Amino acid sequence: FPKLRVALLGCGAVGAGVLSYLQQRPDLFEVGPVLVRRPGAHEPMGDETYTDTLADTLAIEPDLLVEAIGGADYPAEIMCAALKRGTHVVTANKAALAAHYDALHACAEAGGVSLSYSSAVGGGTPILETVARLRGDGGVVAIEGVMNGTCNFLLSRLAEGGSFEEAVAEAQALGFAEADPSTDVDGHDAADKLSLLARRAFGVPLSAARIRKASLRTVSARSVKAALAEGKVLKQIGRCARGADGLVAASVEIEALPVDHPLAGARDEENRFLVRQRDGRVHAVYGKGAGRWPTAAALFGDVMDLQRRLAAEAQAAPLKLSA
Ligand code: HSE
Repeated sequence: FPKLRVALLGCGAVGAGVLSYLQQRPDLFEVGPVLVRRPGAHEPMGDETYTDTLADTLAIEPDLLVEAIGGADYPAEIMCAALKRGTHVVTANKAALAAHYDALHACAEAGGVSLSYSSAVGGGTPILETVARLRGDGGVVAIEGVMNGTCNFLLSRLAEGGSFEEAVAEAQALGFAEADPSTDVDGHDAADKLSLLARRAFGVPLSAARIRKASLRTVSARSVKAALAEGKVLKQIGRCARGADGLVAASVEIEALPVDHPLAGARDEENRFLVRQRDGRVHAVYGKGAGRWPTAAALFGDVMDLQRRLAAEAQAAPLKLSA
């Protein structure tokens, strides 16, 4: 089976991690020039080159496009065009997926290719996979969780007596925060993730813009300490549930949870989810929610799934005998 030609878009916290994984398997992957904003600012990690021109990245006629540039509309446009051309796409971009879910899936169908994004919610936490399985096994009625690693990290630091500004700078340096950390702090990131979870759990559109979001800016060091004095911890909790009327409600709240609550123990950038089924069963899924390696490993997992599937299909295809 020939090597998979990969176009990599973005070489930030996640993109650089994926590049490192791809470079560990030169037997399987050939990577074209990596699309970045400032090619001169990147020290090559291996034999890769950098470009700021999309056409250069696509010149290898990729089998697979890995999108890790962030943003919503521009990457969605690039992914749609690639999918329609018959290029598989792997991404972790929850903002692009939440805002352009139907268009991206329609393009994948039109191109007869796959669109994979298991790392878009929960980073390295297998929550989308779990929800898909439980949906097929009796149905899901509600999901709640700590689903933004940056907010959880900030709340952990505040509880330890740190300052909000220092904690934000630390979360950025550790590669947890979005390019604009207000995306995390004001609940937009969690809302995008809820939108994707609602699609997976209930199969319905849920506009992230219409989800009520509490901002972490309302939390002071004093309110964190007051909660601790009562045996509680503050957490940003995302929640979506389908009522008996079939309508889906969702919110992003800052809540004081008793320390023995299953979501209360999430440390730093950890994500924790509780998935409730129709028959009352509750499933807990915990994992690393943010950061280069957990997210890149999950994204690379999608890449490897695709590689194995294409290789198996090529092997199963009947041999074409020349006349
Ligand atoms: N900024 C996100 C977070 C990254 O902190 O959870 C992972 O989605």
